[in-house]
Amino acid sequence: MSSCRLLPAFLLWVWAAGGTTYTLSCGKCETHANSMICPESANQERYTVTLFQDGVLQLQCEKSVKLINFALMEDCSFPTVSQLDVLGCPLQSVSFGEIALKLGARPENITSLKLLGDAQHLGQSLQHWHLHGLSSLQIFHVRNHHFTKLPHNIFDATPKLKSLRFVTSNLDAVPETLFSYTVELREIDLSSNSLTHLPVNLFRNLTKLTNVSLQNNALSEIRSELFLSVPFLENLDLSSNLLTSIQENLFNGLKNLTSLNLQRNKLEQLSGDVFSDITAVKNLNLSSNLLKDLGSKTFDNLKNLEILDLGNNRLSDLPDTAFKKCKSLKKLYLNHNELTLLKSTSFPYPKTVLTDLDLGHNKIPSPNNVGSLHGLYSSAESYFPLSRQTELKNIILNDNKFQYIPGSFNTVFLKLESVDLSGNLIQEIDLHSLLFLRESVKLNLKNNDIKIIDLSYLWSVQYSKKFVELSLEGNYLECNCMLYQFARMAQGKTPKEGDLFKIRVEDIDNVTCKIPERGTQKLLTVDTRLLVCKQDPCSNCTSYWRPHDEMLIIDCSYKDLKDLPTCDIDNYGIRKDYFITLNMRNNSITHLDKLQDPMYSRLVNLTIPNNKLSFINESYFPESLKALDVRGNNLTALPESLLEFFNITDMNLSLGNNPWMCSCDTIDFLNFLHVPSRKVNDFNDIRCKDEAESLMTISENSLCPFFMQPMVIITIVAILIFLILFAVLGTVSFYKYKQGIKVWLFTHHMCLWAVTEDEMDADKKYDAFISYSHKDEEFVNKVLVPGLESGDPKYRVCLHYRDWIPGEYIQNQILQSVEASRRTLVVLSSNFIESVWGQLEFKAAHSQALQDRTNRLIVIVYGEIPPESELDDKLQLYISMKTYVKWGDAKFWEKLRYFMPHPQDLIKKRHRKRRDTDKLELCKSDSKLSV
Ligand SMILES: *[C@@H]1O[C@H](CO)[C@@H](O)[C@H](O)[C@H]1NC(C)=O
Ligand SMILES: *[C@@H]1O[C@H](CO)[C@@H](O)[C@H](O)[C@H]1NC(C)=O
Ligand SMILES: *[C@@H]1O[C@H](CO)[C@@H](O)[C@H](O)[C@H]1NC(C)=O
Ligand SMILES: *[C@@H]1O[C@H](CO)[C@@H](O)[C@H](O)[C@H]1NC(C)=O
Ligand SMILES: *[C@@H]1O[C@H](CO)[C@@H](O)[C@H](O)[C@H]1NC(C)=O
Ligand SMILES: *[C@@H]1O[C@H](CO)[C@@H](O)[C@H](O)[C@H]1NC(C)=O
Repeated sequence: MSSCRLLPAFLLWVWAAGGTTYTLSCGKCETHANSMICPESANQERYTVTLFQDGVLQLQCEKSVKLINFALMEDCSFPTVSQLDVLGCPLQSVSFGEIALKLGARPENITSLKLLGDAQHLGQSLQHWHLHGLSSLQIFHVRNHHFTKLPHNIFDATPKLKSLRFVTSNLDAVPETLFSYTVELREIDLSSNSLTHLPVNLFRNLTKLTNVSLQNNALSEIRSELFLSVPFLENLDLSSNLLTSIQENLFNGLKNLTSLNLQRNKLEQLSGDVFSDITAVKNLNLSSNLLKDLGSKTFDNLKNLEILDLGNNRLSDLPDTAFKKCKSLKKLYLNHNELTLLKSTSFPYPKTVLTDLDLGHNKIPSPNNVGSLHGLYSSAESYFPLSRQTELKNIILNDNKFQYIPGSFNTVFLKLESVDLSGNLIQEIDLHSLLFLRESVKLNLKNNDIKIIDLSYLWSVQYSKKFVELSLEGNYLECNCMLYQFARMAQGKTPKEGDLFKIRVEDIDNVTCKIPERGTQKLLTVDTRLLVCKQDPCSNCTSYWRPHDEMLIIDCSYKDLKDLPTCDIDNYGIRKDYFITLNMRNNSITHLDKLQDPMYSRLVNLTIPNNKLSFINESYFPESLKALDVRGNNLTALPESLLEFFNITDMNLSLGNNPWMCSCDTIDFLNFLHVPSRKVNDFNDIRCKDEAESLMTISENSLCPFFMQPMVIITIVAILIFLILFAVLGTVSFYKYKQGIKVWLFTHHMCLWAVTEDEMDADKKYDAFISYSHKDEEFVNKVLVPGLESGDPKYRVCLHYRDWIPGEYIQNQILQSVEASRRTLVVLSSNFIESVWGQLEFKAAHSQALQDRTNRLIVIVYGEIPPESELDDKLQLYISMKTYVKWGDAKFWEKLRYFMPHPQDLIKKRHRKRRDTDKLELCKSDSKLSV
């Protein structure tokens, strides 16, 4: 409430004042900062005097004031005051000159008097003396005082008057001689009175008059003489009157007229020459009249016309060259008429600066859409009647009958900023019509019949830096595949980072689209992944195109089909890169041979549950297949090759409700299912035939007993083969490397049981009999014998020559020596071959003695001997035996000792702590003793 009261007060202040205030110090009134309240604030009947710094003195009366008591301000003096504002005060019985004087101002110095009235003071009238004393008055503004009359001589006292505003009063007539003495008048504003006519000579002597406003009166006629004597009139406002016509030469001679307002009259016609003389007019407003047509030359002379408003008339046609010559026309309003046709010739040409054109609320159809064929579409474009208006920035065509967006918007108007095509009959928008020449354009398409916004070729423009702001509410968008790209854009999901082409839907909150059979949904929340269009490439099956994943979904479910369908996809205009989902649920398919058809090469999802498949051959599957649903078929097993295929392709599988045969062969399948990353959707429905339990919960063992499992069998066989191989190889290599092994074992005192001589020779007197050539005596005596007799164990040795009894038959001696010894050592040297072996009897004795016992012969090769081939058979035999050691061999002693006997007791003794009684006898010492 309080703000409602304050508002008018504020407006009064704004109207009347305009400057800063300063302190008053005079009179008997209650003094405030910059004003005096008289007589005092407690009194209801009071007035306030406020002095503003720039010479404005304001007198404001409370509502109840009748007679103002100026005596209270007797001693005040404001000599510099030049403007008196009187707000809400009733007329006094003294002139305003007197009032000025009583308030302390000098009347002869007052140049401006403003009276703001109040509805309370009805019925008062200005008297001719009211302005007396104000000889300098230049501005006299009266507002809201309900004066009905003006005395004809009221201004006789104010010859310097320049501006008269007498608005929102009840004047019904003006005396003809009112302005006889105010030749300085420049502005007369008589708006919002009740004038029905004006005296012909009212402005006669006003040669300086520039602004006349007579708006909002009841004038039905203006005589053509009215403006004859005001040649310099610049602004004339005759709006909101009852003019039905304009006299032909009313404006003649008004060479300086720039603004003419004739809106809200009852003009039905304009005579051809009515504006022919006012060539300076820039702004001509003829809106809200009853104009039915315009003369073809009406505006021809208006070379300076910039704004022409013809809105809200009854124009059904524009003359061929209506505005053709208005070469300065920038804004043309033709809204709310009955235009059905536009002609390019009507508009400024060849020179045009037209930027704003409002053709809203007419009946204009799309250019040339009568009988328009698709082929003619582009040529129809060139006939768009506004195509020549290349400077157009704002085009308003709302509420007409456009069925499509004229291509000129996208190809001609370089400076286009906004297009309003709301309330038309547009049904479809394509990318082309959203691609304007200018970088940023607002396009209002509210309340059309738009069903489709097809941005299929969005990729082709994504790098053109364009921004379109759309208004779209009140259309009938269909949530189908055609809307996919647009819906994504509107939802702010531009296809790629860095795309420059952008669309913003300004009223996205109110834009809905219709989902077939499911009502409407807000575009903002539509799940674009589900947008599809019905297609028809397969007879008897329903197909859908889903742009989200470029999927052709062929739905042949519940059709009792015996085979997969054949579809005419290639001729269906589907994009090159597409995928196929085939849904064959609940049919009678027994085989999938048809998958070899090239049409299925892009199959990614084969859904074929509840059919009669009993086997699947992976070689039919196209490489692209990613999901397979074979639930509820007759499958009993999946061959290993198929499992391998599933494994490689990482297929999404549904396998349940098949009569799986469970046996050891099923283990592969079970293992396949147990891989954690396996994409099987229905583990729990995979059961063995006639079993309630899911296959996944059955253990391998109960599916196939342990020993039956192929892996177990294979493992056992493998181990056996390995063992046999190992045994064979071990034996072979043992025999091949037996000696080496044994020597090594012996010298390292390991596994001595294995290398122990049998007990056969236990009673032999000597350990070794050494047969040699006497020429090698030194080696034998100094090296060989000491080596054997010392060392560990110590051997008893019987020596050829040394230990033999002289004279005894040599053959016997050899035989005895060999018999008495566990080993026979032959020092085989060239000397031996020459001297000893040469003796026949010696050879014979050797042969005989060693018959069948060659294993006890140890050949010690000493020095160089002739090549084997030159030796005789017997020697060759000896050498070929492995029981020979070569002097000079690094392991000579180790080998020799190995070939030497190692009796059991000797070994046993070794195992004891110490052995001092084990010194072995030699045949030499023995024989010495016996000598
Ligand atoms: C006011 O009028 C007096 C004479 O009446 C004159 O001398 C004076 O200069 C005027 N003051 C202003 C500010 O015009
Ligand atoms: C105004 O015009 C009338 C008629 O032409 C003339 O008689 C009168 O003298 C003029 N007044 C002045 C002040 O010029
Ligand atoms: C009338 O217009 C002309 C040019 O069009 C200009 O030179 C002249 O000053 C104007 N006259 C007045 C009184 O404004
Ligand atoms: C949506 O419609 C409501 C009611 O019709 C309106 O008030 C609101 O301003 C509209 N929102 C937009 C963004 O246009
Ligand atoms: C389509 O279905 C009709 C009846 O359901 C059948 O007669 C016709 O053979 C089918 N066509 C194909 C191509 O399967
Ligand atoms: C395969 O297509 C069916 C419909 O035919 C659908 O329900 C299923 O989700 C699809 N599978 C995959 C992995 O896309």
